This record gives sequence, structure tokens and C-alpha cells, in this order.
Amino acid sequence: MTILGIETSCDETSASVVYANLKNQSVKILSNIVASSLTLHSKTGGIIPEIAAREQVKYIIPVIEQALTDSNLYFLSSKNYSLSSIINRPSIDAIAITVGPGLIGSLLVGVETAKTLAYAWNKPIIPVNHLIGHIYANWMMEDGKWKMENILFPAIALIVSGGHTDLVLMRKHGNIKWLGGTRDDAAGEALDKIGRLLGLPYPGGPSIEKASERGDASRFTFPRPMIDSDDFDFSFSGLKTAVLRKVKTMKQLNNETIADLAASVQQAVIDVLVAKTLKAARAYKVNSILLSGGVAANQALRDRFKLEIGNLKLEIPLSVPSKSLCTDNAAMIATAAFFNYKPTPWKKITANPELYFN
Ligand code: KG4
Ligand code: ZN
Repeated sequence: MTILGIETSCDETSASVVYANLKNQSVKILSNIVASSLTLHSKTGGIIPEIAAREQVKYIIPVIEQALTDSNLYFLSSKNYSLSSIINRPSIDAIAITVGPGLIGSLLVGVETAKTLAYAWNKPIIPVNHLIGHIYANWMMEDGKWKMENILFPAIALIVSGGHTDLVLMRKHGNIKWLGGTRDDAAGEALDKIGRLLGLPYPGGPSIEKASERGDASRFTFPRPMIDSDDFDFSFSGLKTAVLRKVKTMKQLNNETIADLAASVQQAVIDVLVAKTLKAARAYKVNSILLSGGVAANQALRDRFKLEIGNLKLEIPLSVPSKSLCTDNAAMIATAAFFNYKPTPWKKITANPELYFN
């Protein structure tokens, strides 16, 4: 079965075709196109929803057309790049679309396009929760390879992105229990805000990672909010305030201090994420730990998880998607739709910016 996934929940516009082998229950990416309006947002140091949505209106059709073309499933009737060529029915079996959570203007671009195509092509359409989509990056490989390893349930999944920091227990496909999440800023959001404070390029997460490479993580001690709390919740807004206070005590920020601040902040975020996730893994006696979301692209976080799992002799396999699949992409949406195949009449599909785990 082949599924066309469409993802437009934040500033990316992405379309992907995945091929799912029903017998092996495994998925292979045939194409995964991601267009981003990042450079426009780097000028403002953050995402302006209206600008993101306007760019997505421009990108959506070319991105879908490119994904279909690259998948080699779609044979254009004309060599011209035109809207009419996409109206020809491509040989896909279904359409998967992110319906939330996210920015309403951005979500609407993808949702309304997906509904129109489902109607025009007479294909089933499957609504996908963006957060659940992130988890399914663990069932895919880059570069058109099959994912060979089996993920064993129950699993603990950490979803750590710009908009969310959540821990969920996954008993099987379609059975997800929310355990806890951030009470204020998401980890990525905190890194983005701190990055701006330190004068680093947007987005802050990768910039802080880069600056940290030459920094001393022991120079500044920042709080590890809620690290010992009795629940699986997080809080990252205090960290930003602590960095702001520290920066205000300094006359000027030289490159060395910025690197040390970045490394110390990154360390604090990693400590909390690793401690809480491993606590949940032990409490629920799981058979796998799954990382996902943009912040999971952070190499120091990935390394620390491996190290701690080894140190604690947990013997729980850790699954980490390849870096390009951690950030927003449509392949994870198509894959989530395959493992949770619930076609829904297109008229009933609506964008829901507040959608959460149900
Ligand atoms: O999953 P994602 O692409 O979008 C959301 O659903 O939010 O995540 C974007 C977030 C941003 O906050 C970005 O700073 C962070 O992921 N991020 C990183 C890294 N790459 C992206 N944070 C730390 N280290 C990275 N390498
Ligand atoms: Zn995301």
C-alpha cells in the first residue's frame, strides 16, 4: 500500500509518499519533501504564523507534486509544472493529513488541500495527530531503506519539540496513554528563547548545540526544574529566567561565555529529559524507549540517553530516528496513518489547533 502524507502544522510544508508492506508491517520512504520558511523567520527570531501560512499556500502544490514525482509512482501527463497535472489520479492508495495540534492558518493549508485531493482523486483520507506522527519517525529509515528492527511494546515515547514535551506510554499501535508533559514552555521553545537571548541564530536548539561543542557545561549551574517531582511533568520556563538573570549580571557576552552558557543550558535540559524518561521506563517496565521530535536531533541528548541506559543496566532498547526525521516531515505522518489506519469521510475532517492525546 502507498500513502501520500501531508504535513503543514508549523512553518514546514511537507509531502511524502511511503510504501508499506502489509505482510511485514514495515514501511519504506519513497519520497519526503520538506520546504521551510525558516530563513524568513530567522529575520524575526521566531515564527510569525501569518507569514508561515502565506508561504505554505505558495509551497503546498509544488511540494506535493515533487513528492509524487520523486516517488516514481506518479506519471505526469505533461512535462509542464502545473496545477492541472496534479489533478490526474496518482497511483497512491490513501492520503494522510496532520489535523493538529499546530498553528491554525498553517494546518488549514494542508487540511483543505488534502480534503480537496481526496475528493478529486476519490481516495481514502486518514487524519493524523502531529504528536503521534512524531513517534512514528521511529518506524522509518532514511534513504528508502526498510526499518529492520522490531519495536517491542509496551514502549515509553518522549516527544520533545518546539511546541511540546510529552511522555506517553504506548501499549500497542493505537493505544497511547499520556503520562505527563510540560506545564509551561516546551524544551525546544525554551532553547529557542535562550538562543535569542544569547544572540544566536534562530532556531535556538541547533545553535545552542553548535555553540555547546566549544563550551564548558560545568561553568554555570542552572536549575533542573521538576527533576525529582513525583509525576512525569516538565517545566522549562524557569530556565529561561535563570539564564536571563545570569546574563544581566555580565558586562558583555564574549564567544567563550556564550559557549559556556549554551553548554550549561543544554546540560540542564538534557538532565531533566533523560531522568524523567528513564523514570517512566522503569515505572512501566517497558520493552523500548522511543525518542522523537526536533530536540531529539540533539547529539548530546542522544548520547546521554545511551550512556545512562548503560549505566543503569536497564537493558531496554533505545530507538532514535535519524536526525532529518526528528524534525517535522510528512513521512512520519504517512507512517502513523499506516499503523493507525482509520479512513474518515473528508467532510468530517477539520483542523484542530488544540488537538492533544485522546
Ligand atoms: O519537531 P519540530 O521540527 O517542530 C515542532 O513540532 O515543534 O521541532 C522544532 C524544535 C525547535 O525548537 C528547534 O530548536 C529544536 O526542535 N531542535 C533542536 C535541534 N534541532 C531542532 N534542539 C536541540 N538540538 C537540535 N539539534
Ligand atoms: Zn513537530
